Amino acid sequence: MRTAISVFYCLFPVPCSLFPVPCYYMRKFLLVSDLDDTLVGDDVALNALNSLLIEHKQAYNLKIAYITGRSLEDYYHHLKSKRPLLDPDFIATSVGTEIYVSGDSTPDSDWSKYLCDGWNRQLIGEILAQFPPLIPQPQKDQREFKMSYYLQPEAATTVLPSIQSCFQERGLSAQIIYSSGRDLDILPKNGNKGQTMQYLRKKLEISADNTVACGDSGNDRALFEGRTEKGIIVGNARVELRDWHLANPSDHRYLATGYYAEGVLEGLRYFGFLG
Ligand code: GLC
Ligand code: MG
Repeated sequence: MRTAISVFYCLFPVPCSLFPVPCYYMRKFLLVSDLDDTLVGDDVALNALNSLLIEHKQAYNLKIAYITGRSLEDYYHHLKSKRPLLDPDFIATSVGTEIYVSGDSTPDSDWSKYLCDGWNRQLIGEILAQFPPLIPQPQKDQREFKMSYYLQPEAATTVLPSIQSCFQERGLSAQIIYSSGRDLDILPKNGNKGQTMQYLRKKLEISADNTVACGDSGNDRALFEGRTEKGIIVGNARVELRDWHLANPSDHRYLATGYYAEGVLEGLRYFGFLG
């Protein structure tokens, strides 16, 4: 029924006030979503969302990009194999620093070249070694364009500004991203989830207006900060992202009440992407 209405709308666009459907015509869009604690967290809600996304993909060629802090191997072994995730069009791993066409295992080389600019892994490593509260994450999470540590929240308030000053003194413009009161990622100046989203939507030739990003924690903030794409923050979002959103409200960002995939669906309906 939903597909029939959608096809009707596509063929005969009419003012939305005449029909009890959202105030946007159904259309192609790009869904960019974080995985852990955003799409993933409630399998029942995810299955319900998936059914609607499959319908929308068939009718309007919806594009899906997952964007996660995990590595590609981690994604396949610990998420894809255990959770009811649809196959996306793209998977951007390691906080967006590696972009893969779904099913491929070689990252997009243009994106990698772009991230090289100003990235000095060795110097960053030497600087960070001077901060005892930083505990390196396992080797599998150290990537070409992502250096990751654990950092306790009590220490973070002083350590993060000190790292920033050291980077400035040494002329480094790397990004410092702290998430979930635990994970510290250092990324190239050109790499974060927001820039990755922009690269993907340009590649797919989809406008900012027809792109929506979803997230729950600190490393997702770049999907929303200073951006013109639509944004959905799920109801279970971490305090760091929720507080930032409340201090920086925006008409094109929605804080859902629903948790995980239910919050994503609520936001997609709010923006009229799904009926
Ligand atoms: C994932 C990654 C980890 C990273 C964190 C936040 O948990 O495995 O390396 O620090 O996401 O981006
Ligand atoms: Mg998350």
